[in-house]
Amino acid sequence: MAIQNVMVIGAGQMGSGIAQVCAQAGFNVKLNDMKKEAYERGIAGITKNLSRNVEKGRMTEEEKTEALNRITSSLDLQDAHDVDLVIEAAVENMEVKHSIFKTLDEVAPKHAILATNTSSLPITEIAAATNRPAQVIGMHFMNPVPVMKLVEIIRGLATTDEVYKAVEDMTVKLSKTPVEVEDFPGFVANRILMPMINEAIFTLQEGVASKEDIDEVMKLGMNHPMGPLQLADFIGLDTCLYIMEILHDGFGDSKYRPSPLLRKYVKAGWLGKKTGRGFYEYS
Ligand code: NAI
Repeated sequence: MAIQNVMVIGAGQMGSGIAQVCAQAGFNVKLNDMKKEAYERGIAGITKNLSRNVEKGRMTEEEKTEALNRITSSLDLQDAHDVDLVIEAAVENMEVKHSIFKTLDEVAPKHAILATNTSSLPITEIAAATNRPAQVIGMHFMNPVPVMKLVEIIRGLATTDEVYKAVEDMTVKLSKTPVEVEDFPGFVANRILMPMINEAIFTLQEGVASKEDIDEVMKLGMNHPMGPLQLADFIGLDTCLYIMEILHDGFGDSKYRPSPLLRKYVKAGWLGKKTGRGFYEYS
């Protein structure tokens, strides 16, 4: 199952990073978004990252040009007609993903693998929108994609070993480390990370310590590069709440109940860095 032509759907934070690492590794990439401005923003971000790599001596100007030349724009899912692998990184919404996967199933060649970068939605449920559930798989990159080494590879109920192996090999070619994960709520990364963040918010809510001190304990005491409350602000408090709800619904266990303080911040529109205010203020 040779992969050479890749389509990345969604040119946002994650999709543009995924397109960049695929192009740098020598794959031809169609970067798709429903909005032309989003594509343009995505490609501008990729160009900036690659230029920084050239400045730092990590790549030559020629390699940068070659990588950029491998990325072409797409505004139509019909462009999936000649690809070997699709990596979907559109919004975290099951209806949107179902609609995209249904179309891809009709358009993409029979052999093509359809992967999703979802951070929390069940792969098996996304696969059910297609007639090729054996070729649907999760490829969960971490943010920021060009920097972070891990990719969780998640098998749906029907995913074959052959498809898993092809995606694992591809991940290694991207200079990333694949980890095999079964399709359970939150996979591994968010099942462990999000309850920690949620517990930090409960700790703040109960007045056990100030936000700065909670973050300080986890940075100095556990060697985490960033405290959990600051990390929550970077991820987005709406995203944190959404994933906690997926864990809570998925396991039916009260240990995953989202903190009322987290809900309150989200209701207030204090979503973290992206809105200028979360647990901390950002100018
Ligand atoms: P984003 O909001 O930055 O980008 C999403 C892009 O998808 C937007 O440019 C939007 O125009 C486009 N889009 C929406 N619907 C589309 C459609 N039907 N067809 C084509 N393009 C469409 O979102 P982000 O953060 O890049 O997340 C994307 C996916 O990656 C989500 O599933 C998310 O859960 C997952 N993810 C996010 C991480 C993060 O830290 N932000 C980490 C790992 C996974």
